[in-house]
Amino acid sequence: MREQWGSQAGFILAAVGSAVGLGNIWRFAYAAGENGGGAFLLVYLFVVLTLGVPLVVAEIAIGKHGRADGVTAFERLAPDSAWRRVGWLGVAGSALILAYYSVIAGWALRYFFAAARGTLWDRPPGGFAEGFSAFIAHPIEPLGWHAAMMALSMAVVVAGVARGIERACLWLMPMLALIVVALAGFALTLPGSSGGVAFLFGPTWSALLDPRVILAAMGQAFFSIGLGMAVYITYGGYLRPEQRIPGPAAAIVACDTTFAIIAGLAIFPAVFAFGGNPAAGAELAFITLPDIFLAMPGGRAVAIAFFFLLSAAALTSMISLIEVPVAALMQRAGLRRRVAVLAVGGAALLGGVPPALGYGPLAWLNVTGRPLLEEVDHVVSNLILPLAGFGLALFFGWVLPAGTALELAGIRGVAGALLLCAIRYLAPAFILGLMLFRLASG
Ligand code: PHE
Repeated sequence: MREQWGSQAGFILAAVGSAVGLGNIWRFAYAAGENGGGAFLLVYLFVVLTLGVPLVVAEIAIGKHGRADGVTAFERLAPDSAWRRVGWLGVAGSALILAYYSVIAGWALRYFFAAARGTLWDRPPGGFAEGFSAFIAHPIEPLGWHAAMMALSMAVVVAGVARGIERACLWLMPMLALIVVALAGFALTLPGSSGGVAFLFGPTWSALLDPRVILAAMGQAFFSIGLGMAVYITYGGYLRPEQRIPGPAAAIVACDTTFAIIAGLAIFPAVFAFGGNPAAGAELAFITLPDIFLAMPGGRAVAIAFFFLLSAAALTSMISLIEVPVAALMQRAGLRRRVAVLAVGGAALLGGVPPALGYGPLAWLNVTGRPLLEEVDHVVSNLILPLAGFGLALFFGWVLPAGTALELAGIRGVAGALLLCAIRYLAPAFILGLMLFRLASG
């Protein structure tokens, strides 16, 4: 018997669990920070609405109809064609993301434990910057936390779709929503916090037309929603025939976006209230924020809540990144779930070693001078995810007959016409345009 979700809410929360992760908190904050805040947010919302929702609908529809993993679902819709490669790109991409994502998740887990035990506040003379650099450059410690996150995620996925993934997300996602809202509420009461709100919501118009900002916003949207990585195909494959697609797809994307904005409202007001630098880059969550937590009233409790949020949000994303290759291995290689989870988790554990050590012993291992982890993250977000989204749009918009596509998605009338228009023309043109710009600008 093929595994299924226990309920519609379970499916939605599992998908939201995949979407909401480090991308919404750690990555959104620094991408918005580096790209001018408000302008970035506007472009981001545009991409989410016009590309995000349609492509999630397409992915779920492909999975639900195929009732299969990311590769087999393409085969069932277009037998004997090369389109299954789009599925392979998603499966391979998931495994790649899993490897380095787990390393950052491990940092978050370490900060959570250190905050809970109080050791986070034994600051080295150089402050959190030095503490963080020393930690990520250590030849062993980051590997241990990376392994811990991987083991936790594997333990959830081994328990299966409804009993493992769905149950974990049914518990964790409402809890995380409460925590992020409470954190934002608290940050907004800090004196001087309004600068952070203005930063996030006040667009700088010149940045709006900057192709780099647009590219960064698209990369961030694709990463945060988790587009093209066959997550929604795989999760859609566990839907029952009578379950509908458009409503849940819109809800998933809306939750993901709202979560990122509220997380931004927890982070930027605090950064501004304490005179931090919003454009601090990838280290915003691990250096700038701890400094702020230390300075603010009740900050130690806030730090525990924040790093719990970060680790648990990462966990629910990692389980989806494991499930995608696991489902493919189970179906295509006939492996049992337990064996597939061990294979995928083990491979990702090894794959995470170079990025984990890229700040210390393997610092020489890079192409552009940037740490390996950030380099891989850039290639994934700005190249692999958009490419997979491009393939998905071509397949759903042009390979499937229009009538079939709309029927699979369960959309009719004006909404159907808009969906097709977005997937046929807007998504491919937008993605291709940005890719060409990227090539041209080197
Ligand atoms: N969306 C997740 C996040 O925001 C990361 C992710 C990417 C998950 C791709 C699945 C697929 O952190």
